[in-house]
Amino acid sequence: MKAPLVPLFVKLAGREVVVVGGGAMAAVRVRQLAEAGARVKVVAPQIREEVAGLAAELVRRPFRGGDLDGAWFAVAAATPEVNRDVAWAAEARRILVNAVDDPEHATAYTAGVVRRGDATVAISTAGRAPALAGLLREAVDALLPPEVAGWVDAAEAERPAWKAARVPLAARRGRLLRALNALHGEPPEAPVPPGFVSLVGAGPGDAGLLTRRGAERLRTADVVLYDALVDPAVLALAPSAHRFHVGKRAGRPSVSQRAIERLLVRAARAGKRVVRLKCGDPFVFGRGGEEALALAAAGVPFEVVPGVSSAVAAPALAGIPVTHRGTSAAFAVVAGHAEASYGPVLDGLAPGTLSLVVLMGVGERAGIAARLRARGWAAETPAALVLGASGELVHTWRGRLADLPGLALPPDRTHLPGTLVVGAVAALSLRSPHSTEAQPAARADARPT
Ligand SMILES: C[S@@+](CC[C@H](N)C(=O)[O-])C[C@H]1O[C@@H](n2cnc3c(N)ncnc32)[C@H](O)[C@@H]1O
Repeated sequence: MKAPLVPLFVKLAGREVVVVGGGAMAAVRVRQLAEAGARVKVVAPQIREEVAGLAAELVRRPFRGGDLDGAWFAVAAATPEVNRDVAWAAEARRILVNAVDDPEHATAYTAGVVRRGDATVAISTAGRAPALAGLLREAVDALLPPEVAGWVDAAEAERPAWKAARVPLAARRGRLLRALNALHGEPPEAPVPPGFVSLVGAGPGDAGLLTRRGAERLRTADVVLYDALVDPAVLALAPSAHRFHVGKRAGRPSVSQRAIERLLVRAARAGKRVVRLKCGDPFVFGRGGEEALALAAAGVPFEVVPGVSSAVAAPALAGIPVTHRGTSAAFAVVAGHAEASYGPVLDGLAPGTLSLVVLMGVGERAGIAARLRARGWAAETPAALVLGASGELVHTWRGRLADLPGLALPPDRTHLPGTLVVGAVAALSLRSPHSTEAQPAARADARPT
């Protein structure tokens, strides 16, 4: 096996390089060398105009060994016989020589080069397969994004800090990778100013289902006013905030809606960053609309950070799509806490034409089922009740509309919020058999699905 070549990047700016040959092959090298700032002397009986135009010196005659005196590097781009003479003359003077398309007479090989600013990737086949080197060059060129040029600047900018902190070489790569990822990651959220209210949807419970903006607002919050169904893990994302529970708790007096609005306004006027945290989405049966109106009326700047509503999340987490091609082309979300609110809505729906999602309707399930049956919904219509979606105690019941009034809740889960789904989609259970998610509901279901 031949000794491996040493890849080198050499500075030739201001140094004399002799190119022997004045044809097309010489032209390529002369251009490269001139771009690198080398002082190029061309020796050949005939010299093309393009070559002549780039050279610093032209010697229009056959090559002589003495032409290499004083040169740092030589290029032989002539016939094999002339190239051989150049190689000998270079060897005698201890000058490296690159022989274009003539590896036998070369002691230095140029590389296929891909450049991105100051980042250079060079490819060599030791002069054996220039066409393959070309193909590899194209492949690398396609792979390397243009941003690589900027990465060099970023990496250079990191170095002084690493040196000052004596970061060992082994640790630098990881740091650089993080810095580059940050460079191309999404821009960080612009912080909200003091005296600002964010109406944030916390999603169905699991902190993993909170939006990134919601998490960021909690991180920087001074004050958080939260509702009963907000999970403690979500609240924990607001470590430096004063946190006040203002939701309804069974058997205890709750803070009135007007009082909550006054608190929001007062905290914002005191220069606090305030988060009003509600389960699901703030504008879906969350009274977020009233709070937005109150803030606008008081001239307090605010934003809405939407959340994943349990109206879609609770069914989805149980494997029920609220719309499904060929099964249901629409869904309606209804508040089920009082007949006065759900009655007129249910009466306006054509039986079996859509998926019906009922929030706050667990206690009224018998009345809702009766109303639907009276409107002509079939007794066999699939129904499902998802309790505590995304939480540890999640429980899914599946059955028929006719079974709903007699449904007894598991005694240890009566405290959980529940979302009711009525319609053909309620019979679906689109969950991966490989799902690693704990599914205690599957054991507790009244009917296996
Ligand atoms: C006052 S409403 C608020 C709805 C919320 N804004 C939303 O978009 O999900 C509360 C109702 O949401 C539903 N709900 C909230 N969290 C739930 C969960 N984890 N599992 C099932 N239903 C849930 C229940 O129907 C509950 O009675």
